[in-house]
Amino acid sequence: MSGAPTAASPRRLGRAPERALLDAGERLSPEELAALQLDRLRWTLRHAYTNVPHYRRAFDAAGVHPEDCRSPADLARFPFTTKADLRDSYPFGMFAVPMADVRRVHASSGTTGRPTVVGYTERDLSTWADVVARSLRAAGVRPGHKVHVAYGYGLFTGGLGAHYGAERLGCTVIPASGGMTARQVQIIRDFEPEVVMVTPSYMLTLLDEFERQGVDPRSTSLRIGVFGAEPWTEEMRREIEERMDLHAVDIYGLSEVMGPGVASECVETKDGLHVWEDHFYPEVVDPVTDEVLPEGSSGELVFTSLTKEAMPVVRYRTRDLTRLLPGTARAFRRIERVTGRCDDMVILRGVNLFPTQIEEIVLRTPGVAPHFQLHLTREGRMDRLTVRAEARPGTGPEQRAAAAAAIARQVKDGVGVTVEVAVVEPESLERSVGKIRRIVDDRGR
Ligand code: DLL
Repeated sequence: MSGAPTAASPRRLGRAPERALLDAGERLSPEELAALQLDRLRWTLRHAYTNVPHYRRAFDAAGVHPEDCRSPADLARFPFTTKADLRDSYPFGMFAVPMADVRRVHASSGTTGRPTVVGYTERDLSTWADVVARSLRAAGVRPGHKVHVAYGYGLFTGGLGAHYGAERLGCTVIPASGGMTARQVQIIRDFEPEVVMVTPSYMLTLLDEFERQGVDPRSTSLRIGVFGAEPWTEEMRREIEERMDLHAVDIYGLSEVMGPGVASECVETKDGLHVWEDHFYPEVVDPVTDEVLPEGSSGELVFTSLTKEAMPVVRYRTRDLTRLLPGTARAFRRIERVTGRCDDMVILRGVNLFPTQIEEIVLRTPGVAPHFQLHLTREGRMDRLTVRAEARPGTGPEQRAAAAAAIARQVKDGVGVTVEVAVVEPESLERSVGKIRRIVDDRGR
């Protein structure tokens, strides 16, 4: 990357990638990719059917056999896999290889009940490091960069996934993990990394801490932020890029499919996330009718792994909402930035609302900090939503009232529903140390 952008300079670099920067998978022609995908798809279906009782049962019940898949379109005949299927096989029932060949497990926390457990063979771990390295390269990261990893280390895939990918690319990794915010900021000041990998919401927490320590966030060594693990918006990108003077790039993934590095944005375009289609086959389906939707239509993202040995997944329902778009900076197709999950959708008096819609509005409103929460309560049979947004320091009562009115008006106009808005004291809302909790649901009380 040539020098950091300034607030005035455009952050879309718009250059085609040098061919030398692409790995073998990224250089495949469309025909080569299609042939490879079909080969790998058929291998995955056979592997899952032969070695995982759940898939044998599910395929048999649907009357399909792996040999029925002669083109990717045939995949639509195969049954979906859901988080509930994974939970029912807790802990290791979805593994397709002997336990002795499973080199590592991760688990996704899940808000209710048992976590879902995922496993990796040695080769899976190597593939994962490759796709994260590819994602980092797409984000503008280069060998020799120092990468501060503030995704949590542990059963969560964020920390270790980012870690081994950055090492694979040839970077120096600073394994900070999440939490101990003051110390994180001190380490960034002292070790001078060019790259930070963290959830966007925790980046905001770090940003505030820079300011608290009297450091201008724009003056730090950081040039690239690789942000993901939770929905975020263009408004949040602008906020972080301007306050930090860095490129903020989106990385997507989920434990069940691999972890971070299933899809990633290119720094030169920042126009959605390229799905690493040589390893993950995407479909978008109508969440209600289950029908496969054509490219460009919005729906639920579904993935079939193409190379995973320990835990292949067939048509896994991510519950993430997006649409498929053609490739740009890379030949691989893109998904539009994931701004909502089926699970995070609030239905308020018949209107569907996602936290990211409120994020866009809050971040556009003067006098309000980028910290907000959605508080759901019930009065009688009526659900109420209060948007709590933090005032920026030094914002007086009149400005706060004006900000609250502006937010309420924009939610009414843009989303079509009436909400209460409380502009609260600076520093009064819960801060993120990882994935932020946007919705506080007190309706059951
Ligand atoms: O969050 C993996 C990850 C770690 C991705 C670090 C990127 C960076 P899980 O904990 O299994 O895995 O959560 C997966 O998080 O289904 C999405 O709902 C959400 N998510 C992940 N990345 C993004 C993103 C990791 N870039 C769930 N934008 C997914 C929006 C995201 N949502």
